[in-house]
Amino acid sequence: MEKVLVIGSSNRDLIVTVDDFPRPGETITGNSFLQMMGGKGGNQAIAAKRAGTDVLFISCIGEDENGMAIKQNYQSEGLDVSYMMLSEDKPTGVALITVDRNGENNIVIIAGANEDLLPENLTTLEETIKKSDIVLMQLEIPVLTNLEIGRKARDNNKKVVLNAAPAKAIPQELLELVDILIVNETEAETISGINVRKDPEEAIRHLLEKGAEQVILTLGENGLLYGTKTKEIVHLPAYKVKPVDSTAAGDTFCGALAAALSRKMEWEEALRFSMAAAAISVTKMGAQPSIPDRHQVEAFISKNSLIENS
Ligand code: RIB
Ligand code: NA
Repeated sequence: MEKVLVIGSSNRDLIVTVDDFPRPGETITGNSFLQMMGGKGGNQAIAAKRAGTDVLFISCIGEDENGMAIKQNYQSEGLDVSYMMLSEDKPTGVALITVDRNGENNIVIIAGANEDLLPENLTTLEETIKKSDIVLMQLEIPVLTNLEIGRKARDNNKKVVLNAAPAKAIPQELLELVDILIVNETEAETISGINVRKDPEEAIRHLLEKGAEQVILTLGENGLLYGTKTKEIVHLPAYKVKPVDSTAAGDTFCGALAAALSRKMEWEEALRFSMAAAAISVTKMGAQPSIPDRHQVEAFISKNSLIENS
């Protein structure tokens, strides 16, 4: 069937670039201001679509200018948005993003309409799950919704991929419903309570014990570690690129991986494909404008190899 169902947030990203982040109480002059489409849900849906699979995307936007622009953007990307929701009283989500000269970011989110993506509003959830073979979600929507999606996906034997971003504690039951858990170091630490920088493998084993079938711990320029309940933990180094803006690198990885798996790519090949997609996204400003398509990723892989950080 080759269809990925993505359920998650949509935001309008308001981005400023600075040399250095301001300190508390400090006023600084920035370098540029950009408005782009974002939200972890939307970014991942677009990443999956550009990686070469059909995508059904469910999100909740406001009845405002931002919401209309976002929906139109999804349509022009070729996402199936026939199950998109409109909030009756909340504005479309916004994200205030500051990017420094090293490509690092700070993000403040006002969730707005994303808060209305509640189980009681998702009356067609089962229908949409049945239409897909992989379900991908993140934590910018109410966690009760994540649970409901997990339960219904499991009932229908669909693979559940959870990107536990942004970092927050999640109920044990949610972990038990997840086939593939994707976390960065902060997220892994928040969920496991283990010092990930000291002992990343211990954190992975802990998350596997808590219920996830497979855990991918992304390490930025150091690549990733992945573990399953039965095999040794494996490290893959990253592709080396010159960072411009890391916003949505994680989203690009998650969307590309869901697409690669739905296209039945072999596991490590799928991981390399997704790491390459994320690496490309880091070299460009913004979230969605920086997400590559399948051909760009394939060309990149043929020219670059994974490099171990010394
Ligand atoms: O992961 C990047 C995204 O986080 C941005 O697009 C912003 O909208 C926030 O949701
Ligand atoms: Na980017």
